Amino acid sequence: MKAAVLHEAGGIPRYEDFPDPVAGDGEVIIDVKAVAVENVDKAIAAGTHYASEKYIGRFPAIPAFDGIGALPDGTLVGFGDIRPPYGALAEKAVVPQGSYVPIPDGIDPAVATVMASAVTAMSMKAAAGFVPGETVLVQGATGVAGRLAVKVARLLGAGRIVATGRDDNRLREVQAIGADAVINTAVSDEALAQAYLDAKGDGYDVVVDYLWGRPSEILLRALVPRSFAFGKPTRVVQIGESAGTELALAGSSLRTSGVEIYGAAKGLDPQTMNEAYQQIVTWTRSGELTFDVEKVPLSDIETAWQRTDLKGRRLVVMP
Ligand SMILES: NC(=O)c1ccc[n+]([C@@H]2O[C@H](COP(=O)([O-])OP(=O)(O)OC[C@H]3O[C@@H](n4cnc5c(N)ncnc54)[C@H](OP(=O)(O)O)[C@@H]3O)[C@@H](O)[C@H]2O)c1
Repeated sequence: MKAAVLHEAGGIPRYEDFPDPVAGDGEVIIDVKAVAVENVDKAIAAGTHYASEKYIGRFPAIPAFDGIGALPDGTLVGFGDIRPPYGALAEKAVVPQGSYVPIPDGIDPAVATVMASAVTAMSMKAAAGFVPGETVLVQGATGVAGRLAVKVARLLGAGRIVATGRDDNRLREVQAIGADAVINTAVSDEALAQAYLDAKGDGYDVVVDYLWGRPSEILLRALVPRSFAFGKPTRVVQIGESAGTELALAGSSLRTSGVEIYGAAKGLDPQTMNEAYQQIVTWTRSGELTFDVEKVPLSDIETAWQRTDLKGRRLVVMP
């Protein structure tokens, strides 16, 4: 079969022949249809992610740990838990029986690869208890997940949406898809702190955070009241870390601001997860929620892997 083959940690996968996987006891062969290439796949392939050892134990190997494909009977499924050195970026993958879930009718396989990013945005409800009318701040709103979070906040009935990014043109696009106000984080620390305060209206109820690092550190510092006050509580949901894996958090940021910080997994159980997924499916089918994907053939993997011009579109490889 043809596959994207990685020969060393941090290398660029190449379009090559690779032996077909053979299903062992309790395994099934998947005919791969669509695979999203995300930052996490690159970190795993670079050997810098905690899951690198699990998914890319030895070389040569095929990157990407999940995708959309067809079972031998033709059923379209989202699959994972691929047996290394196989990965999703190939014509075929081998997974344990049952390591897949059916994709609902009417959903394009390329779109299905991105739906998980929209499901994580639903954590504003599951983790932070968002209710319609509240003010939502999306940190990192020009990326794929952040743009979806702006759309999801609008669909959930946010009263006001503030969105951050670091490029004015891209931020204008985010306004066009539903943000009421935008903040460019590529300014001095002082200017950014002031921008968070100027845009907060009567206060941020929920922060959906795909950035962490410097912008979130400045935000959390800016939310500390300057005088004694009963501030409006702000619930922060930590989802991503595009701007940094860590930040410094002053005790006062929690003690006096009313800020509460949750991980996106808070409140997640199979039922909540399923409800969130079904809501995303419903909006996708009705056309209320749209996904920006750029489809490329597997044969283009070498160029596609190195692309930095996607501007909020998800790269989806179609083997
Ligand atoms: N937990 C989950 O299930 C889940 C699901 C989806 C995403 N995530 C996480 O969420 C984050 C975003 O994912 P994504 O798929 O949306 O990635 P993406 O499309 O690459 O977007 C990344 C965003 O972060 C911005 N950014 C990158 N570095 C920055 C910096 N130093 N300062 C300020 N902004 C910066 C980018 O701005 P530019 O475009 O200007 O470069 C872009 O808007 C990642 O950490 C990802 O792992 C988690």
